[in-house]
Amino acid sequence: INQLVPPPVFMPTCIQQPETGHVIGHAYKINVSEFQQQILPPGFGATKVIGYGGMIKNPKIGRDSYFRSTPGPTFEAIRGIPIHVQWINNLNRPFFLPVDPTLVWANPNTMAIPGPPFPSFPPGFPLAQKTAPMVTHLHGGETPSYFDGHPDAWFTADRRTGPAFSTNNYTYLNVQEPTTLWYHDHTIGLNRLSVYAGLAGFYLLREWNDPVAPFLPGCENEIPLIIQDRSFHTDGSLYYEQVGDNPSIHPYWVPTFFGNTVMVNGKVWPNLNVKPQQYRFRILNASNSRSYHFQLSNEQPFIQIGSDGGYLPHPVELSSLMLAPAERADILIDFSILAPGTTIILKNIPGGTPADPYTVGQIMQFTVMNETVQPPKKLPSVLNNIPQLIPTRTRTFTLFELEGPNGPLKVTLNGQLLRSPITELPRAGATEDWRVANLTNDVHPIHLHLVQYLLVSRPKFRSDDYLRDWKKLNLTTAPGTPPYFVKPKVLPLEPYLVGSIMGPPPNEQGWKDTIRMNPEEVTIIRIRFASQNGSPYPFNPSRGPGYVWHCHMLEHASNEMIRPFKVVP
Ligand code: C2O
Ligand code: CU
Repeated sequence: INQLVPPPVFMPTCIQQPETGHVIGHAYKINVSEFQQQILPPGFGATKVIGYGGMIKNPKIGRDSYFRSTPGPTFEAIRGIPIHVQWINNLNRPFFLPVDPTLVWANPNTMAIPGPPFPSFPPGFPLAQKTAPMVTHLHGGETPSYFDGHPDAWFTADRRTGPAFSTNNYTYLNVQEPTTLWYHDHTIGLNRLSVYAGLAGFYLLREWNDPVAPFLPGCENEIPLIIQDRSFHTDGSLYYEQVGDNPSIHPYWVPTFFGNTVMVNGKVWPNLNVKPQQYRFRILNASNSRSYHFQLSNEQPFIQIGSDGGYLPHPVELSSLMLAPAERADILIDFSILAPGTTIILKNIPGGTPADPYTVGQIMQFTVMNETVQPPKKLPSVLNNIPQLIPTRTRTFTLFELEGPNGPLKVTLNGQLLRSPITELPRAGATEDWRVANLTNDVHPIHLHLVQYLLVSRPKFRSDDYLRDWKKLNLTTAPGTPPYFVKPKVLPLEPYLVGSIMGPPPNEQGWKDTIRMNPEEVTIIRIRFASQNGSPYPFNPSRGPGYVWHCHMLEHASNEMIRPFKVVP
C-alpha cells in the first residue's frame, strides 16, 4: 500500500567568487526538529519523528520550499566543490525516547545544574535532560575534525555544548571519490535513539567526468534506498525498548535493538513501480543493530558496482548480498527481463534462511509497469583502480565483551573505555594494518572516521583459546572490579590462526569505511592515513578534536564501543 519515494534533494545557495562569478561552493542551512510523519500505511496513525529540514527544489510549485522528513533530504555534492552546512538544533524538548543517564553520554545538564558529579540522579532514573543535544557526522567523509561531528561536539538549542564543540558551521571538502555517503546524528551515548527517531539521510558525491556514469542508468532510474527496522505502538508511535537488559546497572540500555517491520525511505514495507529497464539502487543499511542478507524473491541475480567509498574494481554479479549497519552497496537490477505486472520482493534471508515473512523477512516490493522496455547498457569490465598499499606498521586489537553478574555490561574495543587515554596515534601519510580479533559471538561492523580503507583478509583463529590467554595476560584487576584496560598488552595472533588465509571476496575489494568483523575471525584492514588518492590531506588532520572509530551497531557505540584516534604529524 505504501509507495516508495526517493528523498527530495536539498537545494543550496551558491557562493560565487566576486570577480569572476565562478561558483566556488554551495551553502545550506539544515535544521533539526521534531514532527509527525506518515510512516505506516494510510489509516494508521502518524509517527512522531526527529528529522532534518531545509530548502528543497519543489517541482510542484516551481520554486524552492522548506521541507523536513526522515530520512532527511539528500545532499547532492560534486567532487571538487566544497559545501558549507550550518547545522541548527531546534529540539526544544528532551528526546521522547528514554536516554540512559548511566552511560557516558552528552549530558546537557552538566553545565546548567551544579551538583554532585555524574552520575547522580533521583531514584528511578528519570529523564535527566531538558533539551536534546545533537551533532551531525558525515559518514565516510574525508573531513577536517572540527567538522567531523565528533561525538563530544554536540550542542543544544539553548546553546549548551559538549567538550569537543567548536562550531556548528561545517565545511565538507568533497575531495574523495564519487560514492554514496550518508549523514546522521552522532551524539555520544544517545545516537542509538536519535538515529532511531529519524536523524539520518543520504549524501551522494558525484564527479563531473565520472567515466563509469555513461554506462549506468540515468537519474530517473537511480534511487537511493535507506533501510531501517522499526517497531510501532498501535497508535503509530515508535516503539523502542523501555527497560534495559541489566537494569540495576543501565536502566534503559539494551545491547541490541531489533524492530519487527522494515522501513525503506521512511515508509514501512513500500512498493516501487518500476519500468522494464535497469535501475541503480544505492542501498544503505541505517538500522541500529540489524544486518540484512538481501535476495530477490525470483532469485534473479543483480550486479554490485560500488561499496562504501567508491566503485568496485570490477562489476560483481551476486545472487544475494549482506549489509551490516552503515554499510552501503551500489547495485544494478535489470527489470527489463520481467513481464509487465510482475511483482518481486526484496527479501531478507539471514544465514540463508528466510526470516519471518510477516515481519523482517520482507523489505520492499517492485512492480513492473507496462512501459518502454530498455535493455541495460554493457558495463566496462574495469570500474576503478584500487591501489596496492604497503603497510609500515601493524596494530592488534580485540573486540571484547564484558559480562556483569546480572547480564551484559558492554562490548569494548580492546577492553578500553571511551575515556581511556588515546592509544591510536597514526602518522599522517602512514599505512597501517589493523588486525581485529573478534572475541565475542556477534558480528560487529567496525567503522573508522576520516579514512576509506581496504580489507586484506579474515583469517579464522581459535578465539576461545585466544580469549583465555588474552585475559590471563591482561586481567590483573581484583575480582569484582570491572576489567577495563588502559593499554592492554598484545598477545601475538599467529599461534592461534587456523586454516588458509584468503583475500577479500570480489564485492569487498573496493574502498570500505565500515566492515563486518565476524566471530572466530581476525579481520585485517589496511588503512592509509592520507587523502583517498594518496596525496597529503588538503587540511591539517592533526588539528581539532580528532576522530573516532567504533562499532556501528548503535547500541554498542552508545555504550563505549567507540574509541578516539588522532592523526599526528
Ligand atoms: Cu556512521 Cu561514527 O559513524
Ligand atoms: Cu558491536
